[in-house]
Amino acid sequence: MGARKVQILSVVGARPNFMKIAPFARALNHCRDRFDHILVHTGQHYDMAMSESFFRELGIPHPDVDLGIGSGTHAEQVGRTMMAFEKILARFTPDWIVVVGDVNATCACAITSKKEHIKLAHIEAGLRSFDLDMPEEINRMVTDRLSDLLFTTDELADRNLLQEGVPAEKIKRVGNIMIDTLEQQRPVASSLNPVIFCREQAVQGQGVLPDLRDDHFAVVTLHRPSNVDSPDVLKSLTWFLVEEVSPLTPLVWPVHPRTRKQLELFGLWNLLLDCPGVVLTQPVGYHEMLRLTMGAQVMFTDSGGLQEECCVLGTPCLTLRWNTERPVTLREHGGTGILVGNSIPAIRAAFKDSLGRFRRMHRPPLWDGQAAERMVACFCKLA
Ligand code: UD1
Repeated sequence: MGARKVQILSVVGARPNFMKIAPFARALNHCRDRFDHILVHTGQHYDMAMSESFFRELGIPHPDVDLGIGSGTHAEQVGRTMMAFEKILARFTPDWIVVVGDVNATCACAITSKKEHIKLAHIEAGLRSFDLDMPEEINRMVTDRLSDLLFTTDELADRNLLQEGVPAEKIKRVGNIMIDTLEQQRPVASSLNPVIFCREQAVQGQGVLPDLRDDHFAVVTLHRPSNVDSPDVLKSLTWFLVEEVSPLTPLVWPVHPRTRKQLELFGLWNLLLDCPGVVLTQPVGYHEMLRLTMGAQVMFTDSGGLQEECCVLGTPCLTLRWNTERPVTLREHGGTGILVGNSIPAIRAAFKDSLGRFRRMHRPPLWDGQAAERMVACFCKLA
C-alpha cells in the first residue's frame, strides 16, 4: 500500500481566477500519485463568456462542485459563498485549501477554511494597493492574514507581508502563475487574426470594422467601480476615447457586462456604436485577449492581470487607476505601466508619449512560466 495522498481543494470564483488555477491544476495532475485535487467553482462569474469558455480554452478540469453563487452585493456574494462552502467542507476533508487572487470568492472561502481549521494557501499573496476603497484590497488583506502558506510573485509582495508581521517561513516566492498560462497559451493566441474574431464577437449594431493591423490599434478594458459607476467619470473617459484616440488609432473594446450596463444607463452606448474607429465586442476569451494585448500599440485598462501581461509582452499600459497593487509592472521598475487615474490630461499625455514608444518587454525574476511547478514542489516538501 502506498502512502496516503495529500488532498488539495482549490477554489475559483471569477474570471481572473481561471488563468491562475489552470497551471496549478496541471502541475498537480503531473504528480497525481501524490496529490488528490478537488476543484470548487463558487460561480461568482457564471456565464459562457465570463466563465465556461475559460475552462475549455485553458483545459481546466470540470469543477467537482459548483456553488452557483452568481451576482449580488458584496455581502450577499461573500455571505452566500461562506454558507455554501461550509457545507462542502462537511463533505470533503482536504489537507490544504488553496485560494487564488483577490475576488469575493477568495476571501469568503479563506475565512470559511480557517473556521473549519483547515490549512490555507494563497496564490498571489502580498499584493497591496494600500487603497481600502477597493473591495479587492480588503479581500487580499483578510486572505493573507489567515493564510498558512503565502505564494508571492515578487520581492515587493514579500516586503509587504514581512512589514505586516507575516513570518518569513510562511512566504514562498514562486513567481507569477499568470505568466505560466501566458507562456502555455502564447502559440494558440499568436495564430489568431484579430479582424476575424472581432468581427465574430462584435456586439449587435456594430458597423463595419476598421482595419486592425498589429501595432496600429489600441485596446480598452474597464470594469472598476471607480471608473464605471460615476456618470461623470465614464462620460469623460468615453468622450476622450471617441474624440482623441479613435481618430488616431482604431480602438478595440471588449465590454465587461457591468460596464455595458453603465454605458447604456448613462446614454453612452450609442455614441460608441456610432463611432467608426471603435470596435465593441462581447467579453472575449483568454486567447483573443492575449492576441489583442500582443498586437496593441497601447492598452487602456483598469485590470490587474492585464498590467502584468502588458509588462511581459512589452505593450505600453496606461493603467486607469491612481494606485496599483502590482508596482513591479510600472515603468519605474522597468515595466511598461503608467498610472494615469481617470484624469484626462494625464491620460492624454501618456497616450501621446506611448504612441512614440517601441515595445519593451520586461520579465521580473521568476516570471518564467514555472511558478505552478514551484508551488507543487513546496507542497511536496510539506507533505
Ligand atoms: C469581479 C472582481 C474583480 C475582478 C472582476 C473581473 C470582486 C470583488 N471583484 O468584479 O476583482 O477584476 O470580477 O471581471 O470579486 N456578470 C455577468 N456575468 C457573469 C458575471 C457577472 O453578467 O458571469 C455581471 C453581473 O451583472 C454582475 C456584474 O457583472 O452584477 C459584476 O460582477 P461581479 O462578480 O459582482 O463583479 P465584477 O465587477 O465582475
